[in-house]
Amino acid sequence: MKNILVTGGAGFIGSHLVRLLVNKYPEYHVINMDVLTYAGNLENLKDVEDKENYTFVKCDICDLKKVSQIFKEYNIDSVIHLAAESHVDRSIEDPFSFAQTNVMGTLSLLQATKGFWNSNFENKLFYHVSTDEVYGSLGEEGFFTEETAYDPHSPYSASKASSDHFVRAFADTYGLPVVISNCSNNYGSYQFPEKLIPLFINNIVNNKPLPVYGKGENVRDWLFVNDHARAIDVIFHKGKLGDTYNIGGFNEWKNIDLIKVMIKTVDRLLGRNEGTSEKLITYVTDRAGHDLRYAIDSSKLKNELGWEPSLQFEEGIEKTVAWYLQNNEWMEKVTSGKYQEYYQKMYDN
Ligand code: NAD
Ligand code: TYD
Repeated sequence: MKNILVTGGAGFIGSHLVRLLVNKYPEYHVINMDVLTYAGNLENLKDVEDKENYTFVKCDICDLKKVSQIFKEYNIDSVIHLAAESHVDRSIEDPFSFAQTNVMGTLSLLQATKGFWNSNFENKLFYHVSTDEVYGSLGEEGFFTEETAYDPHSPYSASKASSDHFVRAFADTYGLPVVISNCSNNYGSYQFPEKLIPLFINNIVNNKPLPVYGKGENVRDWLFVNDHARAIDVIFHKGKLGDTYNIGGFNEWKNIDLIKVMIKTVDRLLGRNEGTSEKLITYVTDRAGHDLRYAIDSSKLKNELGWEPSLQFEEGIEKTVAWYLQNNEWMEKVTSGKYQEYYQKMYDN
């Protein structure tokens, strides 16, 4: 029996993790704590909302008093912390909100955890979900390992790096039992269409320009979101206290090549001639401080805990495109209202 507090469970990765935990472990109680920002959407969890072992609580991780009450009310013994501001472009526009949520929010959650567990750390775990972006940018060669020095470049990655440091500081200073994972770019269903893959699928469907930053030569290492959730499950149960695990699928793609695969797949599934939508590709001003290449070495996770990705990229991207085409109602809901303002501000000049 465990009472697991998942923060940010209404977001992209959080909702996949919550679904996995609720379905796989009926004996656990999963408490999803989310403040429901633009990126948090309870529609993502419709299929588990009535399950007995699932509870949603609306709460800001920065609200120490309320978070502490939730710990008490649900007798929380494990935390999996995903709540964050997560989009690099937004962090360039508004770095303060990233420091507030990702740094101060994580600190407030750590304080609440430490306060409630009160040095009784037996069978307790604080699991912090982080990103490979804390390691900075690679050149043409090499991989990020768990030993790579932190070198964040965007306000987003700087705020995540800072939150990682606070988590380790709580382990070293107060003995809090922690584990951290740093994962590469995720893709799959329920991702908010400000990120490359769902944004471009939606634009291809609607014959809108595809804004490629710079020359499209930046490289990202893409992992199917369900495989990230599976990795978190494995690390949560078998990870060594105090350790860090890199998660990635050895699946690097230059943006422009990935975009062409998306175009082909959408065109084919919509019955268009494959490649006709390439005319939508529009090169735009590069993102400021744009990291050239991310690539994760996840051999520690494979060798020590036996995790491997379950899907090849070709299968994953096919499934993902098909999901967005079949779920246009979800897409329409999340792209109404405030999203329109965001899109205009980002891309219409
Ligand atoms: P997301 O933006 O889709 O979801 C974030 C969730 O956090 C939303 O549900 C939002 O409502 C919630 N949230 C934001 N501020 C909050 C607050 N103050 N209090 C409570 N809830 C709040 O993000 P995601 O892509 O699912 O990423 C989840 C985590 O995984 C993040 O910590 C991110 O840094 C990390 N990560 C993401 C990726 C990726 O490719 N998306 C890769 C590696 C690591
Ligand atoms: P993104 O999905 O924002 O993830 P991250 O910046 O965290 O890696 O972007 C993935 C890559 O796609 C990144 O190199 C930036 C690029 N990109 C574009 O070229 N155009 C876009 O409109 C977006 C959102 C991203």
